Amino acid sequence: MKYSKTFVELNKAIHDRASFDCGTVELNNFLQRHAFRHMKVGVSKTMVLPATEKQLNQKYPICSFYTIAPSSIQKATLPQNLSKALPLYPVPVFLIARLAVNKRVQGECLGQITIIKALEFLWQVNQKMRAYAVVVDCINESVEKFYQKYGFHYLCENHGKSRMFLPMKTVEQLFTNRR
Ligand SMILES: CC(C)(COP(=O)(O)OP(=O)(O)OC[C@H]1O[C@@H](n2cnc3c(N)ncnc32)[C@H](O)[C@@H]1OP(=O)(O)O)[C@@H](O)C(=O)NCCC(=O)NCCS
Repeated sequence: MKYSKTFVELNKAIHDRASFDCGTVELNNFLQRHAFRHMKVGVSKTMVLPATEKQLNQKYPICSFYTIAPSSIQKATLPQNLSKALPLYPVPVFLIARLAVNKRVQGECLGQITIIKALEFLWQVNQKMRAYAVVVDCINESVEKFYQKYGFHYLCENHGKSRMFLPMKTVEQLFTNRR
């Protein structure tokens, strides 16, 4: 399965959600049942990387996707060296709520491409509306290791998942230096 060059907003008329399988039922269900509706009601945004060729049903398979939303964390959960200068009220962050790669193309660097594209998108949003960090909730230890590769650090437990974070300053350095 060959993938397109750019991520686009999920469109249920064009993208084949039903055939997406990343190996994790929770994430498949989210994409298939909730992602589009959540965008409609305005609580998150899902960007997908479609395959280059349509299936028989005239829809494009989804190679990978990420879902982002605004969120906030408690100042007290941050390490002291980072929280010192922050105000007392909840700290605004961007949440990578979901991210997954289709099993058919796992192990081909698409996870890496997807996380970098998600961070680049959030970096662009951050030019207009500031957030302090990017956070992600990991479903298991292996996924924690995946995010550690990209500079994320453990923050706290959140509803049975490990919450990890990456300061927006680090994201800024990453993309500002690339320009
Ligand atoms: C985790 C996932 C996104 C990785 O995507 P992928 O396309 O297979 O990964 P890549 O080929 O881009 O690998 C990038 C790097 O991460 C590592 N990696 C990949 N999957 C990993 C995992 N599950 N745990 C730890 N490291 C992992 C790779 O070894 C590679 O490291 P390297 O650059 O040192 O060789 C994908 O396997 C997936 O969607 N899994 C199911 C859903 C899921 O767990 N999503 C996580 C977000 S909640």
